[in-house]
Formats: sequence, structure tokens, C-alpha cells
Amino acid sequence: MLDQIKSPVNEHMQKFERFFKENMNSDISLLNIITNYIYRRKGKQLRPMLVFLSAGLNGEITQSTYVAAGMIELLHTATLVHDDVVDEAYERRGGFSVNALWRSKVAVLVGDFLLSRGLLISIEHNSMDLLREMSKAVKDMSEGELLQIERSRKMNIDEDAYFEIIRMKTASLLASCCVNGAISAGVPGEKVELMRSFGLKLGLAFQMRDDLFDYQPKGLIGKPTGNDIKEKKLTLPLIYALKQATPEERRSIRKLILKERKKNSTIETVVDFVKKYGGIEYTTNAMLRIQHEALDILKAFPESEYRNSLELFTEYIVNRKV
Ligand code: IPE
Ligand code: IPE
Ligand code: MG
Ligand code: MG
Repeated sequence: MLDQIKSPVNEHMQKFERFFKENMNSDISLLNIITNYIYRRKGKQLRPMLVFLSAGLNGEITQSTYVAAGMIELLHTATLVHDDVVDEAYERRGGFSVNALWRSKVAVLVGDFLLSRGLLISIEHNSMDLLREMSKAVKDMSEGELLQIERSRKMNIDEDAYFEIIRMKTASLLASCCVNGAISAGVPGEKVELMRSFGLKLGLAFQMRDDLFDYQPKGLIGKPTGNDIKEKKLTLPLIYALKQATPEERRSIRKLILKERKKNSTIETVVDFVKKYGGIEYTTNAMLRIQHEALDILKAFPESEYRNSLELFTEYIVNRKV
């Protein structure tokens, strides 16, 4: 399905590879060893794909589309490297995370390097509008992750807080992909805002799918499962189940989640609890609702191979297996 989505921008995605790699080079050999490792284990590259498709939907793909795609994938990679430090996660993209192989202090610095390289690309190409948009997304992402930590510590995340957190930490970047793609194609303001709403919906659905992964058996997605529970991250399946449970059950589950060192059996108990109260179905339905809202927004754009791919993209997001 991903190949089909990519097909209108296939050539650009291939040229993008080189652009992306060149921008990770450094004179420091330790840094090059690590960025090579990251490069070899590259992810799905959904965000650059989204940038190119959004540009195509709105006009011509230009040099500035490459700038937008490059900076976004670098920032995304930086946040994953940092996220695995924050979440104490030792697997990423089917292998070891940077913090697992080189320790946390190295991972923090590599993340900073990638982040600054990302922002610098836009300066080097004089793309202030792209830089403004991206810097806002980076700010939102850090605030979102911190809000999540603050709320998780007190375990007071309700559905509204959950959506606010995922909007900031994930959807803001996917929205930037669509916005910057459109800007790079030179499109007028009102279309840019439509692209933003589309990207936001896409991003919410994307993170909901990710949060559902945490309830899957381990070994399928190339990163740890059960980690959100381990890290006391309250996501929608659990938030909903807690709301449905009896007060006694709620109290005992909260106690389990707040435990510092959790056994596998503790995580299993929480997973079973969430399943029993329908947290998985509830989240899946909410995700599909949002996916349909995203699809509706695309109707405002003329039919094209790009629109077709973006429609498929919304389906891919909710059905994906990694
Ligand atoms: C993972 O993003 C981080 C989230 C926002 C949930 P992706 O699933 O796009 O990660 P890669 O780049 O393909 O590994
Ligand atoms: C998403 O959060 C990561 C960012 C937005 C930086 P998660 O912690 O859920 O991401 P994964 O599951 O580790 O990829
Ligand atoms: Mg994580
Ligand atoms: Mg996750």
C-alpha cells in the first residue's frame, strides 16, 4: 500500500534520499558512525512523502519542497532519538535505539545535532516561512511531551487532555508536513489552512494507532510494547477503561500503574483490564471517525493522483502494522 501511495512522488523520494543523507554529514567521526547507523535503519519516511504529496496536490514540487521534506525528517529523527531516552526504550525500527548502543548522553547530543541540522537547512536555503512553521512544531512537540509527563505524574489525564497532548506531540508535525508542502508549491493562504486541518486530523489518527500498538503482542512493530504502561503514560484505551471501571477496580489499577518497577505480569493485568472494558474498540472507533474527517477535508481539492494518494494515506495510517 505504501508503494502505491508513494507512486506519484517516487522519483522525488529517491532524490530526497541523497539530500537527506548529505545533510546528516559531520566532521566528527563518532557522529558520522551514529548517523550512518540511523540512516541504514531508516523509518517509513511518511513525513517527507506527505510533504511531496501535499506540494503536488497544490501545484509544482520545487527545490523548496526538498528543503521542507529534509528538515522535517531530520526533526522527526531527532525527536525519536530523544524520545527513546525519555521513554527509556531500547528498541527502535527493529534494532537497538541510539541510547541502547551509545548511552543516553550521546543520544541527547545526537538528537540536538539532528534538530539543529534540520533548522539550518531552511536558513541555508533562505526559507523563512518554512523555518517559522517548523520551529512552532518543534516547540509544540516539546511542550506536548512535557505536558504528558506532568499529567502522567499525577495520573490526571482525561480524554480532552489526551487529545491536547497528541495534538502537540505528534499532530503538529504532520500538520507542518502538509502546510510546508503546500507553501513550497506557492499556494494561497486559505488552502494552506485546509492543509493544516487535514494534517492535524491525520496526525491525531496516526498517534492513536501508535498508542494501540502498545497493546499488541511484542515483536511485531520493531519497538517495545507495553512501554506506555511501564512509563505511566495514560493513553486513550486506558483512559476510557478507567472511566468505565468500578471505583474499586479503578483504584487498584491506578496503584499498579504507579508502581515504579513493573513486572511483565503487572503490565499484562493492565492490558487485560483495558481489553475487558472495551478500550481498544473505543479508541479504534474514535480513530476511524477522525480519519473520515480528514478524508472529508480532501474533497475541497480537485481530483488528482496526489489527492488519491493522500486519501490512501489516511487509510494506511489507521490500518498500518508498523
Ligand atoms: C513514530 O513515528 C513516532 C510517533 C509519532 C508515534 P513513525 O512511525 O513515523 O516512525 P518511523 O520514522 O517510521 O520509524
Ligand atoms: C511519540 O510518542 C514520539 C514523539 C512525538 C516524539 P511515543 O513515545 O508514543 O512514540 P514511540 O511509540 O516511542 O514511537
Ligand atoms: Mg516512545
Ligand atoms: Mg508509542
